[in-house]
Amino acid sequence: MNISELREAFVALYGGSVGDVRVFAAPGRVNLIGEHTDYNGGYVFPVALQMRTAVAARLNGGSVIRIAATDLPDRVELDTDKLDSYRSLKWGNYQAGVAYMMQREGLEIPGCDLLYDDTVPHGSGLSSSAAIEVATSLTLDTFIREKNGDFAPPDLKRLALLSQRAENEYCGVSCGVMDQFASAMGKEGNAIFLDCRDLSYQYVPLTLKGYRIVIANTNKKHSLAASKYNERRAECEAALEILKTSVPEATCLRDISVKQFEDAKGLIDNEQVRMRAEHVVYECDRVLKAVKALTAGDLPTFGKLMTASHISLRDLYEVTGFELDTLVGEALKMDGCIGSRMTGAGFGGCTVSIVEEAKADAFISSVGESYRKRTGLSADFYTSLAADGAKELTR
Ligand code: GLA
Repeated sequence: MNISELREAFVALYGGSVGDVRVFAAPGRVNLIGEHTDYNGGYVFPVALQMRTAVAARLNGGSVIRIAATDLPDRVELDTDKLDSYRSLKWGNYQAGVAYMMQREGLEIPGCDLLYDDTVPHGSGLSSSAAIEVATSLTLDTFIREKNGDFAPPDLKRLALLSQRAENEYCGVSCGVMDQFASAMGKEGNAIFLDCRDLSYQYVPLTLKGYRIVIANTNKKHSLAASKYNERRAECEAALEILKTSVPEATCLRDISVKQFEDAKGLIDNEQVRMRAEHVVYECDRVLKAVKALTAGDLPTFGKLMTASHISLRDLYEVTGFELDTLVGEALKMDGCIGSRMTGAGFGGCTVSIVEEAKADAFISSVGESYRKRTGLSADFYTSLAADGAKELTR
């Protein structure tokens, strides 16, 4: 829906006039390289997408947050006096979680009516949940601050962290900060080189000179992803404890260099735990090399690093699976594709490939066809540009 359609849908649902309806939005993201590094204090390199969650919003003067979505029949009411009690909602728990976290910071949550319109495909590894959280936190934060006479620009970094806390502590997913950060802080035309140890970041122009980013959705839902994700985190923590005996100053796996890892890896008896750490240490190194390559306009090197990342996620971190491996394998067979990998948590979801602009259409139809033949599933393809992070939409 465009913004005026969304405003009209809002008025059809809640009444009133379109002139009073504000619209806030936050995007999904695709991560170009640096996977399963964020919760190890490592580097990531995501891009905010044009696909987004938009929220049409208006204060209602009461103490209830009413939420609805343009593509769901559910209508949910969140009583601001009982925000702790909505954790098990199938839809609405992200919104409740954000409001709950703000309330825990001592903020007074205003009653409001919200209508969500999502264009980020759900469960696809493109951070549809972060988009909902960040869009919700921007909406509530704006209402709260304006009520207190504060019309300054929002502190988007704070909103990213608050959204991550909602997902960790309210929704029970121990994700890192990458998704919420990218959704809040994205910048049109740029990727974000983020250091997850201290949240310092740099925008890197996504100059692809004759190439295009193609995202492909396996349409395999990542079931069990949350428990496997938490399992990987625990294995990384176990590896760090052992490696610290050799590198005592390390506070996270990212603090361990490739050389230090190679010298100390023999200390880790459990092969699986060693493999997880090896992925993280080398993946951090690949991000640094990839950012350098992109800045130097060396796309072939960038593409090779992406493919190496996928192989490591497949063989060492073991988070890919048949569908993702097939999609990447088919992509790499194509003339004009210089790199391809899974993106996000894995176990399903999407891949991201760098493809020659002139060959992108042929790429999409051939890869789609061979993927269907081999898996029986039909892939969706998206060619989003790098977009801005969360903001109020006025047009
Ligand atoms: C999910 C999490 C992120 C990150 C990725 C893997 O998207 O939400 O924090 O850990 O998986 O890189």
